[in-house]
Amino acid sequence: MAADCAIGIHDLSFATTEFVLPHTALAEHNGTEIGKYHVGIGQRSMSVPGADEDIVTMGAAAAEPIIARHGRGRIRTVVFATESSIDQAKSAGVYVHSLLGLPSATRVVELKQACYGATAALQFAVGLVLRDPAQQVLVVASDISKYDLESPGEATQGAAAVAMLVCSDPALVRIEEPSGLFTSDVMDFWRPNYRDAALVDGEGSITAYLQAVESSWKDYTEQGGRSLDEFTAFCYHQPYTKMAYKAHRHLLNTCAYDTDEARISRAVEPTTAYNMVIGNSYTASTYLGLASLLDRADDLPGRPIGFLSYGSGSVAEFFAGTVVPGYREHLRTPAHHEAIGRRRPLDYAAYRELHERSFPTDGGDHPTPSQTTGPYRLAALRGHKRVYERC
Ligand code: COA
Repeated sequence: MAADCAIGIHDLSFATTEFVLPHTALAEHNGTEIGKYHVGIGQRSMSVPGADEDIVTMGAAAAEPIIARHGRGRIRTVVFATESSIDQAKSAGVYVHSLLGLPSATRVVELKQACYGATAALQFAVGLVLRDPAQQVLVVASDISKYDLESPGEATQGAAAVAMLVCSDPALVRIEEPSGLFTSDVMDFWRPNYRDAALVDGEGSITAYLQAVESSWKDYTEQGGRSLDEFTAFCYHQPYTKMAYKAHRHLLNTCAYDTDEARISRAVEPTTAYNMVIGNSYTASTYLGLASLLDRADDLPGRPIGFLSYGSGSVAEFFAGTVVPGYREHLRTPAHHEAIGRRRPLDYAAYRELHERSFPTDGGDHPTPSQTTGPYRLAALRGHKRVYERC
């Protein structure tokens, strides 16, 4: 039986972008039958950052309500997970630490392993709290998924940040031991330092993901984890929501269970509402799945949920969390709906202009157009330095 360490997610908040591109606009531009997007990959729209938004502005916007509710006093560590890093040396977390006014007596670091980074951050946070249960760790997962225009990956872009406060006696989800782990050196998705947009072997990434599901589950059971029947729902990494269904079907097959579509849907559908309209948010995606599940399902108290975090390249982890009784009083459902509902729709031409935008690399003073109505903005690139401001 899995041990309950009574450390986990105390609060969870997400933010996304100023703009949204409906898949209907993309389909109209490239002549794709809309069923491929709506049904084939399970996506309706994707968040598009304004010229003055990036992983820092989204991350700070996601974390701000957590600081407002719980204060700064017990946070001793900030872990910022991303694969759309803005600097090769400085952690994006240091900008967020500054924007949020966190105390200087804080350790801040950035973590990367494709879409798996947030899970590494969460597990490291649990370890830090285990060492000193008086401390809290702020985990921020923030990413902008970007593929080349006119490439197959274009339909699976998106952007969001999820902030989670990790501490002892959490109000939302207790993270359990053990974890099932899997690492394999594959080239299914990657982004060389000289490229803005990721490269992906679409079919290869599906195969690699499914292999990781199977292998991390195998390790989870070998480590003494729960049986499949015990789980009420499964939060999978969702590069597009259809992938979560494929993953769960594969897990059921691996365990020689009936792959009844209604059973798959019950386990996965409640986790897909936010990813379906935000698009791929890389590291944040598994935890947007959790946000969707907590905000939508009402039968969760005391129930175990499975997490399958996959990061191309590849690293995966399967672990369990138990939903804490009374969790509904601590949710941010209206704010989450507001974050999605407030986005302004773009037409294809406006989206394309934002997609092609990049800062000159001459070290000059390059102010950004004022577009975001969010709480933080990237005001300029000045002397090779990003300049942020509170709006
Ligand atoms: N109605 C319903 N379904 C349709 C359809 C239609 N008119 N046309 C196509 N489809 C289905 C296909 O059958 C397929 O379903 P399946 O996967 O269950 O077989 C699905 O839509 C996608 O079609 P496909 O031809 O495979 O699309 P594609 O070549 O454009 O590639 C992705 C799709 C998802 C592979 C591509 O967008 C991609 O690589 N995205 C990036 C994924 C990623 O981030 N991976 C790394 C992290 S895990």
